[in-house]
Amino acid sequence: MKSLLVLPVLFAVALSSYNKEKELDWWETTIFYQIYPRSFKDSNGDGIGDINGITENLEYLKELGIGATWLSPIFKSPMYDFGYDIADFYAIQEEYGTIEDFENLMAKAKELDIKIVLDFVPNHTSNESVWFEEALRGHEKYFDYFIWEDGVVDENGVMHPPTNWVSALRKSAWEYREEVGKYYLHQFVIGQPDLNYRNPDVVEEMKNVIRFWLEKGVADDPDNYDYLNHIYTKDLDETIEMVFQWREVFDDFKEKDGLSRVMMTEAYTTPKMAMKYYGNRDRKGAQMPFNFALISDVNGDSSAAEIKYALDSFLTFKPIDEHANWVAGNHDVSRVASRFSPELVDGINMITLLMPGIGVTYMGEEIGMVDGYVSWEDTVDPGGCNTDDPINYWITSRDPQRTPFQWSADKNAGFSVGNKTWLPVAADFENLNVEVQRVTEKSHLNIYKALAALRNDKIFRYSRYESVAYNEGVFAFRRWYNKKAYIVVINFRQEAYTIDLTYFENVNKKVQVLISSIQSPKNSWEVLQADKVEILGSESLVLKVLF
Ligand code: NOJ
Ligand code: CA
Repeated sequence: MKSLLVLPVLFAVALSSYNKEKELDWWETTIFYQIYPRSFKDSNGDGIGDINGITENLEYLKELGIGATWLSPIFKSPMYDFGYDIADFYAIQEEYGTIEDFENLMAKAKELDIKIVLDFVPNHTSNESVWFEEALRGHEKYFDYFIWEDGVVDENGVMHPPTNWVSALRKSAWEYREEVGKYYLHQFVIGQPDLNYRNPDVVEEMKNVIRFWLEKGVADDPDNYDYLNHIYTKDLDETIEMVFQWREVFDDFKEKDGLSRVMMTEAYTTPKMAMKYYGNRDRKGAQMPFNFALISDVNGDSSAAEIKYALDSFLTFKPIDEHANWVAGNHDVSRVASRFSPELVDGINMITLLMPGIGVTYMGEEIGMVDGYVSWEDTVDPGGCNTDDPINYWITSRDPQRTPFQWSADKNAGFSVGNKTWLPVAADFENLNVEVQRVTEKSHLNIYKALAALRNDKIFRYSRYESVAYNEGVFAFRRWYNKKAYIVVINFRQEAYTIDLTYFENVNKKVQVLISSIQSPKNSWEVLQADKVEILGSESLVLKVLF
C-alpha cells in the first residue's frame, strides 16, 4: 500500500528539513543600522543633518558590512518632537530635503544594495496636520480622526481633564481646545494628538500612507509603537490587530514583486507581550518586534546572571520559527558607553551581532560614542524642556544621545561646515571619530567591522546557543554548528577572573582568540588553554574552539 511506504519517507524529510540550511531572506541575515537623520550628516551647512548627507555617506554603511538602514522620521513636521510629530505623512520635511532627494537616496541605496526602512509613526499626527486643523474647524470626518472627550466641571465651576492620564513626556495627556469645547488625547507631547483607530477611515488612511512609501521602493516600514504602561491605551488586542492588518499590506507588495518587506515594531513592554506582535498560527505580525532587553532590563551595574537572564528571556518566549533581534541603543536612550561603560562597547557589540537573530545598531555605537553634554540653554528635546527644571532636566532629556555623528576631528566633528549645529557636538570628538578609528588597528570601529564580517559565517546563521554566568562578572555564550564552535566571553566587572571554558561540551583543550576588545592585551590568533582562561576587567573576547 502506497501510504505505508510513503510515511517513513515523509518522516525523514521532516526531520532533516529542521536541520537543513534553509535559504534565508535578506532581512534575516543583515544588520539594521539606525540613522537619526538630523544628526548623521549635514550636506548644506545649516547645522541640521539631511537626506543628501545620508546619500553621500551610504558607502560608510557598506564599509561597516551593513545591508539595511532605518531612518527616524523625515516627514513634514513642526519638530516639537523632532519629526515624531508628523504634519503630512506624504511629504518630506524641507530642512531634510525634497522628494527628489529621497528618490536619489533610494537610487543610491539600490546601487549599493542597501535597503531603506522608514519610521512610520501611526500613534498620532502633529497638531499642525491638515487633519487636525480640519478637525478644529469642525469638519466631521476629521474630527473623528482624533479622540475627544468632555472635561469634568467641579463644584466651583472649574473644568478639568476627563481623566488623570499623564503623557509620556510629562503632564496631562489631555489638552483642551476652545474651538470644539473638548479635550483631545495625546499620549506624547501636546503637539501629538492620538489618532482614533476605532474609526475605519483612519485605518484605511494609514494603510494608504504605507502603500505610498512602499510604492517608492521602501523595502520596509517599521511601526513605531510608543511606550508607557497605560492599560487603556497600550498593548491592546486592537493594537495587535492593526499590526496584522499592516502586515497584510506589506505582503500584498511582496506578492507583486517577490521582495519581502519587514516590519519592526517598537513597544516598551514585557518579553511575553512583545511576542504577541510576531503573530500566531493564523495571522502574521511584525518580523521584528524590537527586543529592548539590553535597554530596559540591564545596564553597567548588572551582574553576569542578570545579563544572562535578560538575553535568554527573549529567546525563551520567542516563537520557535521567528528570529530574535538585538537592540542596545536608539535615539531615546543613553548611549552604550554611558549606560554600560566605554570599556564594554565592544562586548555589547559582540552581543548584538553574534547572538542568534538579527543585529540592530544605533548610529555611533560602532565607534563607541558617548552621551554629549547639552546645557539647559541648548536643550531642545521636549523630554528635557518639559521638566521646567534647569538642574535635573538631563535625566530625562534625550538630546545627549542625539548629538552629531562624529566623522572626524574637523570642525563640528565633520558633521557640518556650518557655524552652529542643532545640538552641540560631544566634547571628545577629536579623539573619538570614524577617521581616527579607521587607522587605529584596534578600535571599536575595526572590531565592529570584524564582528560584522564574522557574522556571515554560517555558524551565526544556523547554530545553536548556550549561555552561562560564570560568576558576578563573566557572561559567556557558545554558538556551535556541526563540528565548529565559537565562544563569546564578556566581563561586566572591572576585576579579573579565571574561568574554565571546558564547562561547555566539546571544548577540551584549546581556544583561539579571534577578536578582542580594545583594552585587551590578547592578540588575534593567540591560543589559550581552555580550562584556565584569565579574563581581565571589562575584557571581551570572541574565541574559536580548537578541536
Ligand atoms: C517613539 C519615538 O521613538 C520617540 O522618540 C517619540 O518621542 C515617541 N515615539 C512619540 O512619538
Ligand atoms: Ca542640512
